[in-house]
Amino acid sequence: MCSSSKQTVKSYINQLKIPSNLLPSELGNLYFYSCFIQASCDFLIEEKWLMGLDAKKKPDQDFLKQYFNNQLSTIDFIKDDLCLDNKALLKLKKQFEKLEFEILLEAKERTPVEKKKFLIQALNRMTNIFIQEEQAREDNLNFPRLYRSFDGLDSIFELDYNLDVEMLVDEESKERLYQGSGVGVQSGYSSILLALHFLDLKYGQSVTDLGSGYGRLGLVFSLLRSDLLMNSYEYVDHRVQLSKEAASMLEISKKCIFTTQDLSVEDFKLPFSDIYYLYDPFSEETYQYIISQISEYAKSRKVTIVTKGNARKWFLKLAKEKSWKEPLDIDASNLSIFELTT
Ligand SMILES: C[S@@+](CC[C@H](N)C(=O)[O-])C[C@H]1O[C@@H](n2cnc3c(N)ncnc32)[C@H](O)[C@@H]1O
Repeated sequence: MCSSSKQTVKSYINQLKIPSNLLPSELGNLYFYSCFIQASCDFLIEEKWLMGLDAKKKPDQDFLKQYFNNQLSTIDFIKDDLCLDNKALLKLKKQFEKLEFEILLEAKERTPVEKKKFLIQALNRMTNIFIQEEQAREDNLNFPRLYRSFDGLDSIFELDYNLDVEMLVDEESKERLYQGSGVGVQSGYSSILLALHFLDLKYGQSVTDLGSGYGRLGLVFSLLRSDLLMNSYEYVDHRVQLSKEAASMLEISKKCIFTTQDLSVEDFKLPFSDIYYLYDPFSEETYQYIISQISEYAKSRKVTIVTKGNARKWFLKLAKEKSWKEPLDIDASNLSIFELTT
């Protein structure tokens, strides 16, 4: 599919230059490779350590073969370039960090239409690697650590987490607003893309993010599935404003809606949605309030809940009470998918 990006990666290793005028999709591929190769350098160093190999020596081809046939098959075209001692692997990783930086700079200069193509290509490549990571987990194989590898994409969405640093919270509020928390409390791209993959959504279904933070979930789902109706509610207004600006820049705002809303207030009635997504948003009281509304809907329609983090425990309790089936746990059990049926 992308033999030219493979060539670009190879030529980058030799000449440390990215060709100008890359198509946005090629730039997206290159972004993917630059991040995956960085994680792979760390991975090889760790695997060598686990196997008791000498850090100062190049590993032999047989050692590398097992990885390039499996976990690192995506980058087997540079397997010879990764046959390095640890010092050289770290140097290569630094080069790819620089490449990632340059790619993002270049992508930021592109038109909104090109940015969109860049993002879609990168996200599709990331989906495949996260599925591969999921498979490796099932097979009990170690895998390059990717959890925060692709956070640089936020700069294309222009999500500026610094706005959280000086935020003031109403001291009377009982809500859990993650004052000053930034990127650490946004769902990782692995969670978002695996959720989208495993949900296997039907055409035009509605998805609601309850406590949407900076809106990564809505933005990514809408980019990859323009048929979905995405609704995101968030208490903190500056986060909502940035999500809205990103959606508008990418021309997805028609079906990717962000609303500033305190979901704990009693005059707010939660609209029906086929899927609700919750990543640790609420105080206990608010969970009870929201769950009671979702349970009402589930009496007459199928509702799917995706939880991340501790939100799982609330729905597990509910599932047991109502004899709903066990959730599907994915992403190292970070994500759970509950199907609530009548
Ligand atoms: C852990 S973050 C998750 C953000 C996003 N859903 C994600 O997965 O990337 C939880 C978010 O819930 C928001 N939140 C907490 N209480 C809320 C409430 N009562 N109404 C709306 N949002 C709320 C917080 O401000 C925070 O941004």
